[in-house]
Amino acid sequence: MLTGKRVLLIIGGGISAYKALSLIRLLRGQGCAVTPVLTQAGAQCVTPLSVSALAGQKVHSALFDLTEEAEMGHIELSRSADLIVVAPATADLMAKMAAGRADDLASTLLLATDTPVLLAPAMNVRMWQHPATQRNLATLRSDSIRFVGPDAGEMACGEHGPGRMAEPEAILAAIRAMLVQGPLAGQHVIVTSGPTHEAIDPVRYIANRSSGAQGAAIAAALRDLGASVTFVTGPAVVPPPDGVRVVAVQTAQEMLAAVEAALPARAAVFAAAVADWRVENASTSKVKKDGSGQAPALRFVENPDILATISRGDTRPALVVGFAAETDDVLAHARAKRLRKGCDWIVANDVSLHTGIMGGSENSVTLITATGEETWPRMAKNSVAAQLAARIAQALQHD
Ligand code: C5P
Repeated sequence: MLTGKRVLLIIGGGISAYKALSLIRLLRGQGCAVTPVLTQAGAQCVTPLSVSALAGQKVHSALFDLTEEAEMGHIELSRSADLIVVAPATADLMAKMAAGRADDLASTLLLATDTPVLLAPAMNVRMWQHPATQRNLATLRSDSIRFVGPDAGEMACGEHGPGRMAEPEAILAAIRAMLVQGPLAGQHVIVTSGPTHEAIDPVRYIANRSSGAQGAAIAAALRDLGASVTFVTGPAVVPPPDGVRVVAVQTAQEMLAAVEAALPARAAVFAAAVADWRVENASTSKVKKDGSGQAPALRFVENPDILATISRGDTRPALVVGFAAETDDVLAHARAKRLRKGCDWIVANDVSLHTGIMGGSENSVTLITATGEETWPRMAKNSVAAQLAARIAQALQHD
């Protein structure tokens, strides 16, 4: 339930504005008060009457309305809620926010607020994919604005691709994650993710197939339970989730330094696929073929083991979780790894190419702890993450 919570809902001008009506109903059904703001374009899509009837409150729409200013100024309005939700968030609204413009009530509220903001973008696929919108998205993310969607699929304009507003139930879930105090509220957790890149020379490097999907999903799941997450990521394909502190690194040595700098933490999950070796004789200039047919001789040196270093360090988190990505004898290797590295839990998975796990969207894992082993059914990486985050919260509660 969201009893006693207050959401300021800004409805932008998009065909999906009609879904904002269902969102109001869902929120009110959870006991949440909804103060609606309708942009001029939004009022072309849904009527102020239906919005205010469902919200049970008057609709705010004009910036300079003397009666409204006397009752509740726009500054106060922008801060009176626990959360501001923009649904649908149009390309225009995102551009205004990214630029810090304030030329109507909605953009002024968004600039004047110090309340968390959640955006549910909705626009044509080309508008969403346009470099300007993607630039604005990156700017807003770095301003700590959170996003839900957009979804991919058939659009009202007949085109196909990302741009559809998230369904009201998904927006509600994102709102709940931001408003409800989770079991990890106030706890700092570190997650490492993605591959590392180890230089051969300034243009070449050694890497691996990790997409960063599982690490990103774990960071998002821990965030959803209220944790304050430091996400230390190598150059991954999957972007980092919103609402976490991102530290981007390239090499294993940089990753270790970033993790050490982020300590102390209550828990740490090491999901990164760290390169075991780096090139000791990496060249500072591009290595050339010399015509002799001789390949350059690369000398390798072992990288620091981040998981083992942190597990045995002075500022060890209460719970340290490692991953064991193996291609054969998965469980035997994973059990030995837990002991060798000194971590509390190991999440073992089979990354043989035929499993499609590395770089794929599903995972099939066995959780190995000091007291037992559990094999979970193959499921989406998001579900593995949610289950693991719940187990972490449970373990820390009993700690
Ligand atoms: O030894 P292996 O690479 O299989 O161990 C995997 C686990 O150890 C993962 O949790 C990984 O993030 C972590 N690891 C690390 N630093 C390394 C190598 C692995 O933290 N240099």
